This record gives sequence, structure tokens and C-alpha cells, in this order.
Amino acid sequence: MAMEFEEVLRRRRMVRHFTVDPIDKLARERIVAAGLRAPSAGYSQGYALIVLESEADREKLWSIHSETTGSAGWSPEVRAGIVKAPLVIAVLASKDVYLDRYARPDKGWTDRDEERWPVPYWYVDAGCVAVLLLLAAVDEGLGALLFGIVPEDIPSFRRAFGVPSSYDVVGCVAVGHEDPSAERRDLRSRRRPHDELVHVGHW
Ligand SMILES: Cc1cc2nc3c(=O)[nH]c(=O)nc-3n(C[C@H](O)[C@H](O)[C@H](O)COP(=O)(O)O)c2cc1C
Repeated sequence: MAMEFEEVLRRRRMVRHFTVDPIDKLARERIVAAGLRAPSAGYSQGYALIVLESEADREKLWSIHSETTGSAGWSPEVRAGIVKAPLVIAVLASKDVYLDRYARPDKGWTDRDEERWPVPYWYVDAGCVAVLLLLAAVDEGLGALLFGIVPEDIPSFRRAFGVPSSYDVVGCVAVGHEDPSAERRDLRSRRRPHDELVHVGHW
């Protein structure tokens, strides 16, 4: 059942212990649809998702994902909790889609000069997609984890899942039922003070 937005925000945290229970098909469809509601610069929509749901696809992913060099440095125990997730959604981003879009007459950046971009908006937008996937998972009563694929694993990932050369693999969102018996990390003591992060009027 859908939750109040505040509750979704409050509950949203990275889950690293899933159960193997499957995700309802409609819930999966709503989560994916939520990701596609992300804003995008110039409405370029230069993102794409690869939904990995079958056991074979997920096994392929985890056989590629480095156990020792994973950026998260997951312990074997944590990794065992993550690989149970019945759904993993890879989030991709294409710079070319943005350069093409902004070369069109209403934008006019026909030189395709990347210096025009304050930051790479193709990655910003992919981040927006990822956040919506995370929030939508919580709204479905599920948990989710955003994790990166380390550079040395990217070529195998591309080959395994047919990622076009014009798309970068920004990260993956694992989704599943949170294992209620798992210990939860409490990051509250590490939260940076509000005034360190928020500057009203002037830094
Ligand atoms: C861009 C990005 C990449 C991340 N990569 C990983 C990762 O590779 N492995 C992991 O376990 N967590 C990863 N995280 C999760 C962060 O560690 C987590 O969001 C942070 O510790 C705050 O915890 P919370 O999201 O539960 O509030 C990533 C988060 C972001 C935003």
C-alpha cells in the first residue's frame, strides 16, 4: 500500500540484506515506471535501464561483480545478503543523447562542446532515476541498494548485457524484501550537521 511521502523519505536507506522472496510483477512495473519519471536536462531522457530479474541474468551479474575489489568492500556475509535480491536494475546514461538534443534548433549548441555543460547532466539525470527507483521501492514496502560497478568489471558487464558503446553504466539498484532478522546500520551519528550543508543567502 502506498505510503505518505514523508514516511517514504524517512524509511529510505540502503538495504544490504534481502530475502529471496520474489517481487510482485506489478510492483516491479511501478518501480521501473517511477524511475522513468525522472527529470532530464532538455527532456533529453538519455538514460536507460537494464532490468535483471531472471535467475540466469542475476547470476551473470554476480559472476561479473568483483568480490574482492567491489567499491563497497562488502564482507562475504554482506555480499551474501545482497545477491539474494530478486531484482537488479542497471542505470545507464548516454552523453551522446544530450549532445544530440542540445544541438537541435531550440538549444543550438551545434558545436557539441562539452565545456558548455556546468557538470555532466547525463550523470545527474541518471542519479535522479536511481533516487526515484529507491523511493519507489520503499513505497512498495521493499528495500533497495544503489551500488556501483567498478571500472575493471565494466567491460564484462557491457559484454554480458549488450550495453551500447554510447552508454555508460552509472550504477545498479538491487531491490527486494528486506531481511527482518538482519542488523540495520545506524548512520545518525555520522550525519553532517544541517548548517554545514545548508547555507542560506551566502556560504
Ligand atoms: C552514487 C552512489 C554510489 C554508491 N555505491 C555504493 C556501493 O557500491 N556499494 C554500497 O554498498 N553502497 C553504495 N552506496 C550507498 C551509500 O553508501 C549510502 O547511500 C550511504 O552510506 C548513506 O546511507 P543511506 O543511503 O542508507 O542513508 C552508493 C550511494 C550512491 C549515492
